[in-house]
Amino acid sequence: MRGHSILIASWALAVSIILNGRQLCSGCFLEEKHALLDFKASLNVTTNAHLILSSWTGKEGDGANDDCCTWERVKCSNITGRIVELHLSDLRKNMSENWHANISTFIPLKDLRALDLSGNYFNSEVTGCRNWAKLQNLESLYLDDNNFNNSIIPCITAITELKRLSLSDLGLEGSFPIEEFKRLEKLEFLDLSSNRFSGSTSFTDVYFFRCGAFLLLF
Ligand SMILES: *[C@@H]1O[C@H](CO)[C@@H](O)[C@H](O)[C@H]1NC(C)=O
Ligand SMILES: *[C@@H]1O[C@H](CO)[C@@H](O)[C@H](O)[C@H]1NC(C)=O
Ligand SMILES: *[C@@H]1O[C@H](CO)[C@@H](O)[C@H](O)[C@H]1NC(C)=O
Ligand SMILES: *[C@@H]1O[C@H](CO)[C@@H](O)[C@H](O)[C@H]1NC(C)=O
Ligand SMILES: *[C@@H]1O[C@H](CO)[C@@H](O)[C@H](O)[C@H]1NC(C)=O
Repeated sequence: MRGHSILIASWALAVSIILNGRQLCSGCFLEEKHALLDFKASLNVTTNAHLILSSWTGKEGDGANDDCCTWERVKCSNITGRIVELHLSDLRKNMSENWHANISTFIPLKDLRALDLSGNYFNSEVTGCRNWAKLQNLESLYLDDNNFNNSIIPCITAITELKRLSLSDLGLEGSFPIEEFKRLEKLEFLDLSSNRFSGSTSFTDVYFFRCGAFLLLF
């Protein structure tokens, strides 16, 4: 009998630990799952939508698929159970329609460390991106090959934890906004290739302000 109650007590303890950390009956945090579904909806894909992120479904309680940690292109921490990486490059399957992406939908992902959205040719409405500063743990951001413009720069440089940043072929132009990029004090790697920045002296400035600590590819 005694053994029995110890067993029950430890079971109850285990359950309370699990409940503190995770949502019941779901392998991943509910708000994180909803964030992913919000992002998918923001793409507004109309043609062949079933081909895009097909494992990302909103169905509740129908087994493995409800656990967003098992969804394609998602990586969760095996300690916290939170999403730490999203590998969302080259989502298009021969589709030429305009895609929008609301990157703010990822703000609820408190432990997100790496986000790759390259190669999607997003026509993003970058208005409203100011709240990207709330992506507080984001260390790696890959946005290459999207149809953004200079108005995205202040939003990116507001993500102050960034260490790796790849902005190749984003349609950036004009004089290089060095003061903006100086905000990224932790930056170790920056790729700005295939943009249309003017002037070459500014590039030298950037190189020296980090004493060569990061690689620049122009
Ligand atoms: C989503 O796509 C439909 C059909 O192309 C279009 O009518 C609608 O305006 C789009 N919505 C947004 C937010 O772009
Ligand atoms: C947890 O993840 C780390 C790296 O992400 C890995 O090295 C480790 O083996 C994993 N532990 C378990 C129990 O899966
Ligand atoms: C994309 O286009 C290529 C070549 O036109 C074709 O082989 C491939 O099956 C297409 N993929 C999809 C998902 O339609
Ligand atoms: C983008 O997502 C955020 C967070 O879900 C939301 O508050 C905002 O209204 C969305 N913006 C657009 C243009 O849909
Ligand atoms: C950047 O793109 C947005 C959305 O497409 C547009 O509203 C804005 O005018 C553009 N800004 C510049 C400086 O081209």
